[in-house]
Amino acid sequence: MNILITGATSGIGKQVALSYAQQGHTVIACGRNSDALAELEALYPKQIAGVRLDVSDADQTQQTLSTFTNLDLVILSAGVCEYVDIERFEAAMFERVFDVNVFGMMRCVEAVLPNLKSGSQLVFVGSTARLLPFTRAEAYGGSKAAIQYIARSLQVDLAPRGIVVQTVSPGFVETPMTDANDFEMPMRVSVEFAAERIIKGIQKKSTDITFPTTFGLFLKFLSRLPQSWQVAISKRF
Ligand SMILES: NC(=O)c1ccc[n+]([C@@H]2O[C@H](COP(=O)([O-])OP(=O)(O)OC[C@H]3O[C@@H](n4cnc5c(N)ncnc54)[C@H](OP(=O)(O)O)[C@@H]3O)[C@@H](O)[C@H]2O)c1
Repeated sequence: MNILITGATSGIGKQVALSYAQQGHTVIACGRNSDALAELEALYPKQIAGVRLDVSDADQTQQTLSTFTNLDLVILSAGVCEYVDIERFEAAMFERVFDVNVFGMMRCVEAVLPNLKSGSQLVFVGSTARLLPFTRAEAYGGSKAAIQYIARSLQVDLAPRGIVVQTVSPGFVETPMTDANDFEMPMRVSVEFAAERIIKGIQKKSTDITFPTTFGLFLKFLSRLPQSWQVAISKRF
């Protein structure tokens, strides 16, 4: 397969890129960190091509990604996380988070969509953070709820073209993103486990790939409770 991955310089995207390269697939690995891209290319010179890409730059994203005309699988994993300080509420922080997690993904979709053929797969990496009103997660959880909705609508609208749209909702995964967290992270899994579950789900063409299973099922159950209950539960976290 010809696979394009954003956020391939670190964490989940990087491990997925390495796993696919190991399996012999061709991977276009995207990110801003040139050193990390060079490292990936050095590890798998035949399989991985590093491409410098800042998804917050609309022109660069369009010019770079529209050149790939033969993609079987696109995985949009580039993302950022910032938490709200309620005493210093900052709208600009919402702009920063949404600019990468939502608009960045939309810029990538705009650039690749005209070239995606029937049978190709488009994968959005969201988060289980979308499922409950977690404390301080107004921006991050909001961006992931938005991307989940957008992806679900795209599942409807791209079905006639035969494009398979999939969402990924990880719980806590050991990556530089969660290394920065200063709170307890229940059922945190390794990045290898995450990549394995994502690749398996992509292969099965699962509509929504949520893991770890117990954590995901628990949060999905809580998300179906009345809103007042959800708020009461989240206050305890
Ligand atoms: N780790 C978790 O527990 C967890 C849980 C649920 C969901 N997720 C989601 O999984 C995805 C990957 O997260 P991670 O944990 O692997 O984080 P990570 O290790 O911090 O990696 C983030 C990736 O996003 C890229 N990125 C950030 N801003 C970018 C920009 N403006 N343009 C292009 N690339 C950009 C980074 O590349 P450069 O810096 O090289 O640009 C990096 O490759 C994110 O969407 C995240 O929200 C993670």
